[in-house]
Amino acid sequence: MANCIFLSPPHMSGEELKFVHEAFESNWIAPLGPQVEAFEKEIASYIGARGALALSSGTAAIHLGLRLLGVGQGDTVFCSSLTFIGSVNPVLYLGATPVFIDSEAQSWNMSPQALERALQDAAKNQCLPKAVIVVNLYGQSADMDPILGLCEEHGVPLLEDAAESLGAFYKGKASGTFGKYGIFSFNGNKLITTSGGGMLVSDDIEGLKKARFWATQARDPARHYQHTEVGYNYRLSNILAAIGRGQLCVIDERVQRKREIFETYQEQLGSIPGVSFMPEASFGRSNRWLTVMTMDPKVIDQSPWGLVDYLTERGIESRPVWKPMHLQPLFAEARYYPHEERRSVSDTLFETGICLPSGTAMTDEDMERVVDAIRKYMMS
Ligand SMILES: Cc1ncc(COP(=O)(O)O)c(C=O)c1O
Repeated sequence: MANCIFLSPPHMSGEELKFVHEAFESNWIAPLGPQVEAFEKEIASYIGARGALALSSGTAAIHLGLRLLGVGQGDTVFCSSLTFIGSVNPVLYLGATPVFIDSEAQSWNMSPQALERALQDAAKNQCLPKAVIVVNLYGQSADMDPILGLCEEHGVPLLEDAAESLGAFYKGKASGTFGKYGIFSFNGNKLITTSGGGMLVSDDIEGLKKARFWATQARDPARHYQHTEVGYNYRLSNILAAIGRGQLCVIDERVQRKREIFETYQEQLGSIPGVSFMPEASFGRSNRWLTVMTMDPKVIDQSPWGLVDYLTERGIESRPVWKPMHLQPLFAEARYYPHEERRSVSDTLFETGICLPSGTAMTDEDMERVVDAIRKYMMS
């Protein structure tokens, strides 16, 4: 739509078509092919992992990662509560039960304090989870050291949902490389996109080989079609991988621009009483995938929900913060560990937060339009 400012639309580098042409010229249109292999190598090398497996979505990558960790019927999996449903649906695909862990205030990600209580309870009841899924929200890494320490102490493996955090770092190490397995998403609104796609990454080459087998309908190595295990059609096509390669060429520029957008919002709006922005924890460097602003209801009469509507009427797309999983009707029966016994950080973030347009192709004029509209709303 003309004149609309979207939340985080695709931003092509111009290099994508070069790789897509290569794919056409070699007639590698059908699934798999050299672009897929190259994209996997390039992502692995960018983050410093030993291997990568290109898949049809980030959700598919989580599904395969959990299956590699042995998650199955009747198991429990501990998950960040403040996230998109794609982090958790695969737990249900495997017949397991999620237990939700709150966020802490410095990174908005999994609270080590709440995780510790949850693991202690589970150990006491001899029902430790089969895995922990930690999410790096809006492009910022969770506090991995204490989380990994707790997981190691209890012998529980970690899967890192880095769907939103490609290009971010934790203590100088790339996001996505902390768990036994890590995943990325390349859906249309992510930092880089293949229109739809995902990646499973790991140093566990044997595991990735197994996941590759499952992702290609688990076809046994026989001349005829033979299957002894359940599989999926989860591979990324050669054409989409070509788009991903063109996107990866400019990832550092994209992170830079996302961070500039965040800084502009903060400079322009940060002095309004009651307005704050998602903090950047001292342990990491966020890719600032989305700029998220909070509005303190004790200071500001207007609500973030009202702001979303106000902006929509002016052709500007914004979104509420993810509704935490423990508040979803789907998980009404699920157990939840808040940051402190009587203080849920993610509930407050959901009630007070709003994701602002953060597309890297936004012009200075676009940003001015958004900032002006927010100011006017605050004064209304
Ligand atoms: C935190 C998080 N996890 C998982 C997913 C799922 O990725 P996909 O949409 O590629 O399946 C997304 C994004 O959509 C996400 O933001």
